[in-house]
Amino acid sequence: MSKEKLIIAIDGPAGSGKTTIAKKVAKALGYLHIDSGSMYRALTRKVIKEKIDLDNKAELLKVVKATRIDLKQVDGKFIVLLDGENVSDKLRTPEINKNINTIAAVPEIRRYLLEIQRKLGKDGGIVMEGRDIGTAIFPHADSKFYIDASIEERTRRRFKELSDSGKKVDLSKLEKSIRIRDEKDKTRDTNPLRIAEDAIVIDTTGLSINEVTQKILKEIEK
Ligand code: C5P
Repeated sequence: MSKEKLIIAIDGPAGSGKTTIAKKVAKALGYLHIDSGSMYRALTRKVIKEKIDLDNKAELLKVVKATRIDLKQVDGKFIVLLDGENVSDKLRTPEINKNINTIAAVPEIRRYLLEIQRKLGKDGGIVMEGRDIGTAIFPHADSKFYIDASIEERTRRRFKELSDSGKKVDLSKLEKSIRIRDEKDKTRDTNPLRIAEDAIVIDTTGLSINEVTQKILKEIEK
């Protein structure tokens, strides 16, 4: 790689394979990988645990501001610390999925996370993935990608992921929940999911993780 310390933004809908791909791209470049969705997930976990009324914005913001989220890479593994507790394996629950859009739609919460995310990328050398990385967090990122796949394929991937980790899931319910989450992410007022004008769009339907990773690495090298 000729240039160093780039900022790479990867956005896309749920189940598009962003996390797996971003991780591989970061590894190949020797960069830090940041899964911004995990920050929204961690905050949602805390709000649920503390039984905060999601309509009570003042209370919600109070909790958020008193929360500490740290992202670390330990032995090549990405871990999320919520107020010091490693919650990495506790963030992909149906309950969090159900409530996360409400949290992610609060402008003050997005601004709060935007600042943390920008700080993480200030020196470059980062692959950050999410919904608004190329459009809002790093509008001047060196390379931007928008990763998509058909809803059927995305549902299949999530289904496999969940089944592999021993979780029982109903395929049609899963598809419905992915559709709802996408719709909410695309239609919120603040920094909705959309394709940045200068993003390279990759439809990963039928492509392997390695094929997508190689495509991205080639584009970055250009
Ligand atoms: O990427 P992941 O599916 O884990 O993201 C979970 C949720 O977090 C998304 O559906 C979205 O509501 C929110 N999110 C967001 N902006 C980001 C990353 C995630 O609004 N940059």
